[in-house]
Amino acid sequence: MTRPAARPLALITGASAGIGAELARVFARNGHDLVLVARRKERLDALAVELAKHQAQVVTIACDLTHADAVANLASELESRSLTIDVLINNAGITYAGEFSQMSQAAVANMLQLNMVALVQLTHRLLPAMIAHRAGRILNVASLSAFQPVPMMTLYAATKVFVMSFTEGLAEELKGTGITATALCPGLTATDMVGDATGGTTGLPEVPEIFLADVASVAHEGYIACMAGEVVRVPGVANRMAAFWSSTTPRWLVRSLSGLVSRQLLRR
Ligand SMILES: NC(=O)c1ccc[n+]([C@@H]2O[C@H](COP(=O)([O-])OP(=O)(O)OC[C@H]3O[C@@H](n4cnc5c(N)ncnc54)[C@H](OP(=O)(O)O)[C@@H]3O)[C@@H](O)[C@H]2O)c1
Repeated sequence: MTRPAARPLALITGASAGIGAELARVFARNGHDLVLVARRKERLDALAVELAKHQAQVVTIACDLTHADAVANLASELESRSLTIDVLINNAGITYAGEFSQMSQAAVANMLQLNMVALVQLTHRLLPAMIAHRAGRILNVASLSAFQPVPMMTLYAATKVFVMSFTEGLAEELKGTGITATALCPGLTATDMVGDATGGTTGLPEVPEIFLADVASVAHEGYIACMAGEVVRVPGVANRMAAFWSSTTPRWLVRSLSGLVSRQLLRR
C-alpha cells in the first residue's frame, strides 16, 4: 500500500474484537493507518471497511500468535510489504479461570505464548526500526491483575505482572530515545473475554454490568496514555483506587483477601 508519509502506522494484535477493535477505532479516528492482526480475518476485514470512513488505510493479517513461528512470519510479511510500524499495540491475550492444576498443558502453553512470548518477540522485532528513526510508541495491554496475585486466575495474573514489569523496564531503557512504552491496565471490561466466559470456556462467573468498564473508554484512555508516553495507565477511578490499595497494602493481606474473594467467585 502507498501511504502519505504524514500518517503514522499502528499495528494492533487482537484487533478482531474487544479492546483491540476499539483501539483500532480510536487510532483510526486520530489519523493513523493500521495493520490489524488476529486469527479471525473476516472480522478484521469488516473492521477495515468500517474504518475507511476515517480515511484510514488498513492492512489485515490473519495470524495465530500461539504458533512458535507466528511473529517471525508476521515480521517477514511486514517487511515484504515495506510496512514500517510507528505504534506497536500488543493487545492480544487470553484468560482462564479455575485452578491452575486443572489447566491443560495446551492451555498453559498457549497462554504463556500469547500473553508473554509473542508480545516480547514482536517488540524485539519492531524496536530496532523505531530506534533507528528515533521515534515510536509501544502500548502493551496488561491488566489490573498485574497489581496483585489473583488465585483461580493465577497464571493469567502472573502473565500480566510480566507484561507490566517488561513494559516498565523497557520504558526506562528507552528514555531519551524518542520511543515510549506504556502498560495499559484495565479492570473488568465488557468484552467477549468476560461476556463469552459466562458459563463458557474461561470459567469466569457472570459479572453484573455495573462492575464492567465500557470498552470505548478503556481504549480511549489507552490511546491518550500511549500518545502521552505515560508508563502505566489504569483506566477508571475505581480501578485506580484498587491499584493504589494493592500497591500500598501488605502483600500477605492483599493475597489473602484476593484468595478469599476468588475462591467464592471463581471456583468451578
Ligand atoms: N476484558 C477484560 O476484562 C480485560 C481486563 C484486563 C485486561 N484485558 C486484556 O485486554 C486484552 C484484550 O482482551 P479483550 O477483553 O478485548 O478480549 P477479547 O474480546 O476476547 O479479544 C481478544 C483478542 O485477542 C485475539 N486473540 C486471541 N487469541 C489469539 C491468537 N492465538 N492469536 C492472535 N490473536 C488472538 C482475538 O482475536 P481472534 O480470536 O480473532 O484471534 C481478539 O481479537 C487482553 O490482553 C486481555 O488480557 C482484558
